[in-house]
Amino acid sequence: MGAFADTSTRRALEGDTIVSKELVSLIGAAATDKARIAGWTHNFYRYPARFSPQFAAKVIECFSPERGLVVDPYMGGGTSVVEALAANRRVVGNDLNALAVFIAKVKTTALSVEEESSLRAWTEDCVPSFTYARSSEELLAFVDSARTKNLSLPRARFIKKAIACALSSLGELPTKDSRDFARCALLRVAQWALDGREAHTSLREFRKKLASTTLLMLDALRSFTIHTGDRLNWSVLINGDAAQLAACASLQAEKADLVVTSPPYPGVHVLYHRWQVDGRRETPAPYWITGQSDGQGASFYNFGDRKEAAADRYFETSLKTLNAVREVTKDGGFMVQLVAFSQPKAQLSRYLNNMAKAGFREMRTEERVSGGRERIWRDVPSRKWHAALSGRSESAREVVLIHRAD
Ligand SMILES: C[S@@+](CC[C@H](N)C(=O)[O-])C[C@H]1O[C@@H](n2cnc3c(N)ncnc32)[C@H](O)[C@@H]1O
Repeated sequence: MGAFADTSTRRALEGDTIVSKELVSLIGAAATDKARIAGWTHNFYRYPARFSPQFAAKVIECFSPERGLVVDPYMGGGTSVVEALAANRRVVGNDLNALAVFIAKVKTTALSVEEESSLRAWTEDCVPSFTYARSSEELLAFVDSARTKNLSLPRARFIKKAIACALSSLGELPTKDSRDFARCALLRVAQWALDGREAHTSLREFRKKLASTTLLMLDALRSFTIHTGDRLNWSVLINGDAAQLAACASLQAEKADLVVTSPPYPGVHVLYHRWQVDGRRETPAPYWITGQSDGQGASFYNFGDRKEAAADRYFETSLKTLNAVREVTKDGGFMVQLVAFSQPKAQLSRYLNNMAKAGFREMRTEERVSGGRERIWRDVPSRKWHAALSGRSESAREVVLIHRAD
């Protein structure tokens, strides 16, 4: 039984506005855990700004009942979706980014024995035969010029050919699910070989890594599906704007016990939809590899442009989506978020204002009542994040916000 039913948290769950010290320290420890991301199918892709599975797991355990409904309106690579299913909860995951939905789906789709063995055979028979000797004309049908931008640069050129070889071999796999699994393995390995990497990756290394990654992913998926069994059918994944969540049929039928999420961050620009190759040149290759559409620019996925610091546009969009999130949350349900800010002082109060306008009340902690620490904070330095700050390094601070739907 999780902390949900423990005496230490029961008070909060019964309508009190105070979160116990014990609960704060449990969530705090999980949120600030610096262990490498591991477990279940979490390592199928390194989704930018993903939160730790420990954080999602602890929040789900503490703030939702078994079999309850968990919602993540901005699920990214689906960390919360995987953890909700692992913890015996039903879950709706949503994201505007088709790449995010693709990844979350592969992470939570069981494969049949035949599909699994065809993927094992693919690593043994097809992957070792990827060669630069294939003529470019032969591979032309598998290269999409719009979505391979900047892959002709010196360090990327050979990997581009290896990816094209891999895509041309997908016909050897029997079903869409098995092909999507192979695409996801390819995505993971191509990210390793290209994104922000200075060193050249040889074809030999690439093939070896693709075969070993595919096998590790198959083992991880097998453990996850054994653990979850039929519960894998308990997830609904949506590729849409969080502002439209209320239109989702599953959420019309039932509202969320818990919303656990990380929204786009004020003043912090994250490259959710691009890799940086050969220096900092951006490529939409993830969409080429996964066969997803890449219709939108960076500002679309960040609630605003990277040059705007505490932009009004961010807070307008955020309010719209928070209103929609409130609509799909039960009265008395919880919303627990990890939010990063480039300028915490100014942006946090605007953010909290939006939460209140949308109908969420912040839970106080016992420490706060007695005048001590108020919220759980942590520093998150990352060169992949572009904080809109002048003269400071690219870093931001992240805070855990615990709210209750009024
Ligand atoms: C901080 S990331 C979430 C990461 C996630 N927690 C994980 O562990 O992978 C925020 C996500 O919000 C998505 N997003 C941005 N605007 C959105 C919108 N209007 N509706 C839904 N999702 C949106 C982005 O595509 C991005 O995947």
